[in-house]
Amino acid sequence: MPHFPAITQENGHGKNDTMSDGKETIINWYPGHMAKARRQMQEDMKVIDVVVELVDARIPYSSKNPDIDKLAAGKSRVILLNKADMADPSVTALWKTHYESKGFVVAAIDARVSNGLKTVNDCIMAACKEKLERDRRRGILNRPLRAMIVGIPNVGKSTFINSFAGKAVAKTGNKPGVTKGRQWIRLNKQVELLDTPGILWPKFESAEVGRRIAWIGSVNDQILVSTEMAEQLLVFLMSEYPGTVGAYYGIDEVDDTVKERGAEMLSRIAVRRGCLRKGGEADLERAANMVTDDFRNVRIGRISLEKP
Ligand code: G4P
Repeated sequence: MPHFPAITQENGHGKNDTMSDGKETIINWYPGHMAKARRQMQEDMKVIDVVVELVDARIPYSSKNPDIDKLAAGKSRVILLNKADMADPSVTALWKTHYESKGFVVAAIDARVSNGLKTVNDCIMAACKEKLERDRRRGILNRPLRAMIVGIPNVGKSTFINSFAGKAVAKTGNKPGVTKGRQWIRLNKQVELLDTPGILWPKFESAEVGRRIAWIGSVNDQILVSTEMAEQLLVFLMSEYPGTVGAYYGIDEVDDTVKERGAEMLSRIAVRRGCLRKGGEADLERAANMVTDDFRNVRIGRISLEKP
């Protein structure tokens, strides 16, 4: 597989990350990509009123790009905790309160279903309240708010736009100032959405953040799905959601006094699920892939990986 140059701390966009087993986190983002995405977004920012940022509800901190505050300076802001159907609802509620306390308008959504359109519309209106009042005072009426969706790869931007465009009445033509080919999707009388999302780069500020992004599968993980990654996930699950993994696989969990707790649990799962090599030895790699896949497909449960 191609090995892209790592993002470095020096260029101010994050840093390359190393898992504790010494394997590098391979990131699909390198400075060329980021510079292009940033330029595009700076252009688009000029013509929009409100930035609707999608984050992954399972990792609302780690999936939030740190530079967006600078890029979106002066714009109204909405945060959508997407894939909320996969996250722990009680933790999602904490995140909603957390980001609201920082001045964002926040909603938890599942971008695959378009019945949240009213919620999102209300969020956009609430975030732009002051602008709408200003417009009204100046006698500007019925000018739709222009919104742009932004987020790191795989967070659900295209899904969101497709769901919402499906309900939208019609596409409006090009607007001056927007790159040719850019289109506005008219959601209703009040809101227009830029049809192309802004792609942000994930932050890799620590091994912990890198690991969480890897666990949910948002980085290229041909290398990342390692037994170590699955073992760390198992330790997290047994600590934060005790009983959940054991119940799913139908085995006892390993208690926290055991030194290689994750490895021991992975081995138990391998045996239980018949992931065995010739000769009967546990095939830990196969078990690791299975556990990761079960986690990502919410078979183990609705789990949040970080709290505010
Ligand atoms: P992006 O444009 O931000 O890169 O993300 P995209 O819409 O392509 O969504 C990535 C994957 O996440 C898609 O799965 C999509 O169906 C899924 N997804 C998006 N929003 C939600 C949500 O709210 N809940 C759930 N459960 N899934 C969501 P996919 O097409 O199957 O891709 P993949 O699973 O093969 O990566």
